Amino acid sequence: MFKVAVAGTGYVGLVAGATFAEKGHNVTCVDIDESKVELMKSGISPIYEDGLQELMQKNCAAGRIDYTTDYASAYKNADAIFIGVGTPEQPDGSANLSYIATVARQIAESVEKDCLVVVKSTVPVGTNDKVEQFIEDFLVNDVKVEVASNPEFLAQGSAVKDTLEAERIIIGTESEWAEELLMNIYEPFKLPIVSVSRRSAEMIKYASNDFLALKISYMNDIANLCELAGADVQDVARGMSFDARIGDKFLNAGIGYGGSCFPKDTKALEFLAKQKGYELKTVKAAIDVNNSQKTMLYKKASKRLITFSGLKVAVLGLTFKPGTDDLREAASLENVPLLLEKGADIFAYDPVGAENFKRVFPEGKSGNGHITYVSNPEQALDNANVCFIFTEWGEVKALIPQQYQELMRTPLVYDGRNIYAVEAMEEAGVEYHSIGRRPAERESKKESKQRELQSIKS
Ligand code: UDX
Repeated sequence: MFKVAVAGTGYVGLVAGATFAEKGHNVTCVDIDESKVELMKSGISPIYEDGLQELMQKNCAAGRIDYTTDYASAYKNADAIFIGVGTPEQPDGSANLSYIATVARQIAESVEKDCLVVVKSTVPVGTNDKVEQFIEDFLVNDVKVEVASNPEFLAQGSAVKDTLEAERIIIGTESEWAEELLMNIYEPFKLPIVSVSRRSAEMIKYASNDFLALKISYMNDIANLCELAGADVQDVARGMSFDARIGDKFLNAGIGYGGSCFPKDTKALEFLAKQKGYELKTVKAAIDVNNSQKTMLYKKASKRLITFSGLKVAVLGLTFKPGTDDLREAASLENVPLLLEKGADIFAYDPVGAENFKRVFPEGKSGNGHITYVSNPEQALDNANVCFIFTEWGEVKALIPQQYQELMRTPLVYDGRNIYAVEAMEEAGVEYHSIGRRPAERESKKESKQRELQSIKS
């Protein structure tokens, strides 16, 4: 078993630390935030992630995991130091590597024995070469430090499971020593390991994420065409999914992808391509489709309604997907300000994301409108003129079509997650607009008059 240090206790770092401890390694997690370290020491996870807190508590009790702000003591005798700090997107789409650089410098100044630095953070291709050089330049003691790439593929909400049962572990190394050490660290996980060069490993991360983003944008593009052409995107996706070359995952059309990875990684790869003088047309298309998809329902509703001013608008779901309190790049963050600007009186519901959302949009008057946070979806729907569904939380899916009809003042629903069958909503008397499916049947006055006349004649 190895002595492992982990720099950064966000989704990537903390989950890595907890799962390494679970597999028997001796782990020290390092973070600069003292209050966060204290919280973790008391067995509480600073992020909401299924099974993480249990893993932290179990391994803390077993003496296999500890937390500190004292990076020097954590790094000096470590066999391997995993870096899981953020690489936030900069305005031009490039990745901000300042956190990585800070950690690299701390490592260089602290290590007292040979060690492997393993970069888990998503970094542009070629960064790890630079990190290795940077550490060498600042190295205080006469020791060997090599850098390896080990990108992370966990999805939020299932991070622990995704790590313990990963479909593959990618390791990118430049020496047999580094490869063997990393293979040994991952040996107890008993998972398939793909060993490649450092640059290929860095590229695998972007190529995988951007492919998934492309898959979603492709389905959203097809969905928009389905609506115009009278097809149903869910049926289309089902039909496609039987082809093993396409697969049955990530074919759900909706309100566009959000989160901390797809938006950032698509832009970062496009930026890298530009830097190299290459135009990455496919990824650019994925980004463009996603940008317009996020406000697709708002645009539809704006055409349907004369105004949002003074309307009670129910917003169901704020996070970028269920099972997380993360709001990064969530569709709600684009749509709520638009609605508020137009004077909407929003009643928002999210089972775990509301607290974070309140920090961006505090309760009360906002823009030309007003926002109130409620503790269940029924309260949001009560007497509402229109409803937007942005996240497919279980609590939202549990609502039945009749509830929209009974609770809302005017049952007009814009569903960005295709939760309901179009027919079921229509049968319940709900005017239902979703993504890539038959638009709601709204009888024109002329049509209803004709129907009336026909029934009189017969
Ligand atoms: C993703 C990748 O899945 C993961 O491998 C990578 O390491 C980080 O990025 P995450 O962002 O946590 O993980 O969430 P994911 O479940 O992949 O969903 C991302 C976004 O795509 C969400 O907004 C989700 O709603 C959307 N999505 C996903 C769709 O719109 N349709 C789909 O079919 C799947």
